[in-house]
Amino acid sequence: MEKKTNIEYLFKPRSVAVIGASQNKAKIGYRIVENIVSHGYQGAIYPVNPKGGNVLGNKIYPELSQIPGEVDLAVIAIPARFVFDAVKDCAEKGVKHLVIITSGFSEVGNTKEENKIVQFAREHGMRVLGPNIFGIYSSAVSLDATFGPGGILPGHVAIVTQSGALGIAMIGKTTAELLGLSALVSVGNKSDIDESDLLEYLAKDDATKVILLYIEGVKQGDRLVEMLKQVTRKKHVIVVKAGRSKRGAMAAASHTGSLAGTDEIFDSVMRQCGVLRAESVQEAFDWARFLADSPLPKGREAVIITNGGGIGVMTTDACEKYGVDLYDDQKTLKETFSKVMPDFGSSKNPVDLTGQATVQDYERAMEAALANDEMHAVLSLYCETALFDAEELAPVLKKEYRRYRGKKPIVLSLFGGATVESITRELRNEGIPVFSDVYDAVSCLGALYRSWRNLNAPVESAEKVEIDTGAVETILDRARAEKRRSLLANEARGMAEILGLDTPQALLATNLDEAVQAAKQIGYPVVMKIVSKDIIHKSDAGGVALDLVNKEEVVDAYQAIMRSCRSYKKDAVIQGVEVVEMVRPGVETIIGARQDGSFGPIVMFGLGGIYVEVMKDVSFRAAPISHKEANDMIAGIRSYPLLLGVRGEKRKDIDAIAKVAIKLGNLVERCRDITDIEINPLIVYDHGKGVKAVDIRVLFRNLKGGEQR
Ligand code: COA
Repeated sequence: MEKKTNIEYLFKPRSVAVIGASQNKAKIGYRIVENIVSHGYQGAIYPVNPKGGNVLGNKIYPELSQIPGEVDLAVIAIPARFVFDAVKDCAEKGVKHLVIITSGFSEVGNTKEENKIVQFAREHGMRVLGPNIFGIYSSAVSLDATFGPGGILPGHVAIVTQSGALGIAMIGKTTAELLGLSALVSVGNKSDIDESDLLEYLAKDDATKVILLYIEGVKQGDRLVEMLKQVTRKKHVIVVKAGRSKRGAMAAASHTGSLAGTDEIFDSVMRQCGVLRAESVQEAFDWARFLADSPLPKGREAVIITNGGGIGVMTTDACEKYGVDLYDDQKTLKETFSKVMPDFGSSKNPVDLTGQATVQDYERAMEAALANDEMHAVLSLYCETALFDAEELAPVLKKEYRRYRGKKPIVLSLFGGATVESITRELRNEGIPVFSDVYDAVSCLGALYRSWRNLNAPVESAEKVEIDTGAVETILDRARAEKRRSLLANEARGMAEILGLDTPQALLATNLDEAVQAAKQIGYPVVMKIVSKDIIHKSDAGGVALDLVNKEEVVDAYQAIMRSCRSYKKDAVIQGVEVVEMVRPGVETIIGARQDGSFGPIVMFGLGGIYVEVMKDVSFRAAPISHKEANDMIAGIRSYPLLLGVRGEKRKDIDAIAKVAIKLGNLVERCRDITDIEINPLIVYDHGKGVKAVDIRVLFRNLKGGEQR
């Protein structure tokens, strides 16, 4: 029977065994013991190696069973073929967690052995980190059980990384950048413990203020989404994902054995969860360091203090780019700053002290901004000038930063020559957030603001919609009986009816007379479309005729459709034509839902036509979604202003789009056999006038709940 092991012991083990501990300094098994010892681990250390002996002052036990005390954590660093036997020994000893460093498992196709180990471990109440990892660091018990370069600084950032090599390099980088860590976990093949398990623990860990995830591919994405939505309400979460480009995604896939999802989906879903996505490891580190140290702002408005006009304008641009609002009460700005600046300065925000400013002016202006409770964050900029140099300014910046560091967010940017660069380094080494480029400075503040908004946002619960899943299955079963994987137009329309979507009136006609009758009944103008399971792309086959305004046009079009479809595919079985009401024009959009390989059920929205085809202007969310999430998804496309109404047009019925998105999300979440449903176009009318689902495509698995045939 599976027992549940408290993951706390992974981060706070009272004792650690290193299986494969070596006296040979060139071996990974030596390096791990060395790091554990030199980092000052607070618990008991038990090196294990059949040769026995002593390593770095610690007795080596020839066998695990000979260890006198309990073992909470076993780090395994022996060749793959011996690992399973070692895991059996661990079970006998009552070990709680296994940290399997060893490579040579699923990442090289040896999935069977990996699964065997995990299954055995689970059956014996052990959780597995790895295999194929560089280890784990936890500041809670001063444990560095990695074979990294050592010297990790304790702090408040937890790093969880899928890449081993990059993770090891990150250790050195954190030390060089003085980024203090609460934890560093290498997840490798994620055979058992994955990001979600770790997030669950780190969310509750008091030492962790910021969580930084390096991800290459997502497995069990729906669980990750649930977890991230919760965690971002408690902590800042940053993600760096490799595989942004198509080529990068392919490299990542072959690297880890797990397929990276498409980047647009990843990006949208991270936004939905409130996760900050960094472009690069450097940006992620800058954010992590800043977010770990900075207090949360008390409001939205920032003030820029500068002694250079140009750099002030550039910072204003950067604020717009990163969503940082600038304090704009001109009266207060004037009252606050006009008395502390040279005559020709500008008290508007950016507060420009000009190149004439003295270091005293600068200090007074900075103090005035920091002391004012209405100014919620301060960006202090310095451009090298003839009147005072950075060496004079440094003590002022240090003093002001120290005085206000816990009270409001402060970011600095210094720009100039060698002295400025050296002062920048000096300040950074003292933990002051200072950058050479204003964009880097503002990017940090922007990240803080975005995260702050998430921390204050309620966790959205998905909107549930009643769906007659029995009726859905009946439609699918009928199509399955014909060995199809897609629904015919009239069946798809049946699906739309189940969902309560507004569709154009339509009738199936199996001969010309019926087509004429149907057109009369619906009312002109009408559209006619071929109905055949053998013709998926109706337009290509000449199977669609639009805007038929009278009986003669219907007759001509019917004959033309039949002719061209027969010549397009001679043996096509044609059920007839569908005569459909010609819908009023509106904004053409595309909306869909599908089963994504990484995140499970997802919904998608975009504007139709060239917007989706050329501009790829679409937005995604992991389903099911709340009304707010649906609205955020719709607002997430670049062409959103077209829905708000441009050039005197009325706002479109965004609410009605959101309702369709919620329904589609519910459908694919409940009916996992539906792999794709897409409405293209979904015509959107003015606010309050609704939407019309014109063309619906439904793809499904033709084996119930199983594999595609
Ligand atoms: N119990 C305890 N010790 C054992 C053992 C067992 N069952 N079986 C072997 N050992 C000992 C060996 O005798 C050796 O000790 P020694 O140096 O005193 O002779 C030590 O464990 C290591 O075994 P060895 O055969 O020398 O292997 P290795 O050190 O060359 O390689 C790994 C072991 C785990 C490092 C290697 O298999 C591996 O997977 N390397 C890649 C690791 C990696 O990159 N991980 C991902 C990082 S992101």
